[in-house]
Amino acid sequence: MQTSSESIFFNECYSLDLFNYPTHYSGDLDCVIIPHGVIMDRTERLARNIMDDLGDHDIVVLCVLKGGYQFCADLVERIKALSRNSNHTIPMRVHFIRLRSYLNDQSTEDLHILGAEDLSFLAGKGIVGTGKTMETLLQHVKAFKPKMIKVAGLLVKRVQHSLASVPDYVGFEIPNRFVVGYALDYNEYFRDLNHICIISESGKKKYKV
Ligand code: HPA
Ligand code: MG
Repeated sequence: MQTSSESIFFNECYSLDLFNYPTHYSGDLDCVIIPHGVIMDRTERLARNIMDDLGDHDIVVLCVLKGGYQFCADLVERIKALSRNSNHTIPMRVHFIRLRSYLNDQSTEDLHILGAEDLSFLAGKGIVGTGKTMETLLQHVKAFKPKMIKVAGLLVKRVQHSLASVPDYVGFEIPNRFVVGYALDYNEYFRDLNHICIISESGKKKYKV
C-alpha cells in the first residue's frame, strides 16, 4: 500500500537473547520486533515533524489510553525538549481518553470510549491523537469541529484491503501480528515491557482469560 506518510518497515524479528527484558516474561515472547532504543529515536524524529507542521498552533494532545500512554508521554516529552531548544514554543494541553476493544488477541465488536463525553474544548484547536484504534474516535472528535486534526500512531499493521485511514504521523509499519510491550498489552500483561515484541503461543495460553 502506498502511503503519503513515510515510516520504517519492520519485517525482521530479533532474538530475545540480544536484549534485556523482564525475566517474568521468559517463555512468553517469540522475538523483539522493535527495540526500545529504536522507538525512542523514531519518536524524536516524529516530534520534529510535528513541530515543523504545527508549530504555529496551540495544540491539544488527545492521548488514547491505555496502550498509547507510553508513546504519548515520550512524544510530548520530545516536543517539549525541541520547544525548549528553539525560539518557537508550542503551547500544549494534554487530555486523556480510554478506548477498549480487545479481549485476548481478538478485536471485539463493541468499542468503548471513556472520557470523551465533552471534548468541546477542542473547538478551533489542533489535535495530535496517539493510539491505535482511530476510526470511531475520529468520527467522534470531528463532531466537535477542531480547526485541524492530526493523528500520530506509533504502529501501523500491514493488512490487505485495509480501508482504515493511515495516521498523519506513523512510527513503524509492522506485519499483521499481535504485538505487546511499550504499553501495548495482552489482557493487561506486558505493558511493563520496554521493547515491542511478538507474544508466543505459550504466552497467549498463560494469560488467556
Ligand atoms: N497488541 C496489543 N493491543 C492491540 C494490538 C496489538 O497488536 N492491536 C490492537 N490492539
Ligand atoms: Mg489492549
